[in-house]
Amino acid sequence: MPIKLGFIGTGGIANHHQKNLVQMKDVSLSAFYDLDITRASKAASEHNGAKAFSNLDEMLDNSDLDGVYICIPPLAHGEAELKLVERGIPFLVEKPLGINREVPVAIGGKIKEKKLITSVGYHWRYDESASLAKQVLQNSKMGMALGYWMGGMPMVPWWRVQAGSGGQFVEMTTHIVDLLRFLCGEVREVYAAYALQVMGEKVEGTDVPDVGTVTLKLANGMVATISNACMLPIGHHVGLDIYTDKGVLELRSDGLNVIASEGITKHANAANPFFVEDEAFIHAVRTGDKSRILSDYEDSLRTHDITMAANESAVSGKPVILS
Ligand SMILES: NC(=O)c1ccc[n+]([C@@H]2O[C@H](COP(=O)([O-])OP(=O)(O)OC[C@H]3O[C@@H](n4cnc5c(N)ncnc54)[C@H](O)[C@@H]3O)[C@@H](O)[C@H]2O)c1
Repeated sequence: MPIKLGFIGTGGIANHHQKNLVQMKDVSLSAFYDLDITRASKAASEHNGAKAFSNLDEMLDNSDLDGVYICIPPLAHGEAELKLVERGIPFLVEKPLGINREVPVAIGGKIKEKKLITSVGYHWRYDESASLAKQVLQNSKMGMALGYWMGGMPMVPWWRVQAGSGGQFVEMTTHIVDLLRFLCGEVREVYAAYALQVMGEKVEGTDVPDVGTVTLKLANGMVATISNACMLPIGHHVGLDIYTDKGVLELRSDGLNVIASEGITKHANAANPFFVEDEAFIHAVRTGDKSRILSDYEDSLRTHDITMAANESAVSGKPVILS
């Protein structure tokens, strides 16, 4: 029996997942819901027998779905997840989990009660560089880490507004925060400084900070800073550097450099991490085996909490301690 999938939100990233899913055996893209019905209809028209919906309950009542992809902007989270949990339908939700703490925490509580299969789109965890780095780090003493997301501003309207995206640290740089947690462990304290220097004058309506730097203390004693900028006319550094007693690990989206006294070893990523992430979710839905999912809702709440704490610290000017 094919796995029947639905989509909530049919924009850029939804399309990316769909391109992976159509390559998989016994997966049917059956139902598409978007606030913008023209988008849902276009997506449905690309898949045999699929239907577009302008009402979420109607889609869920009439489609007999085995799993759902939630690909909506950060401000829109809440209703979709709660409806899926209530009906016991597994879902993969794109990061970030939302723009506040309350809604994701409430969703997380209900997911735990139901033991529902979930996956969150932290695809950097699925890169070969991440698993390789994990192995290398087993034999090293970690000292500090420096993370970056330096680039330009996405031009979708919700992104430039704090109440739409939560800002760059929550919306984009969350990938680097998550990678830091995945490789180095939990974060205990956060201090952030943000500013809006350029984009406020360049793009009308922009109120998200366009530069920021966040200092983090980890439970294992490490210190880290993660900086981001969305004011550049070019893409620059995106990644995480980890400094250990054996040398430096440089993680980038295309691979890993291990710099040691013997020299530099370069590992290029071959697999598409989104594809591996999608396969892990489909495998879990098909078999009930969640072991390939590297980032579920419960775990992602901790990453989200760090980004929320950074936003709070940037406003208050004070460090935030995490429990
Ligand atoms: N994992 C990644 O690397 C990655 C990459 C890109 C985007 N994303 C994330 O995916 C999410 C969506 O990004 P995007 O680039 O696809 O945005 P987008 O603006 O291209 O698409 C979002 C779609 O959601 C629809 N929508 C908005 N509110 C809705 C609601 N309440 N119910 C149903 N549909 C709704 C919009 O009409 C739009 O079609 C964001 O949270 C973003 O951070 C993740």
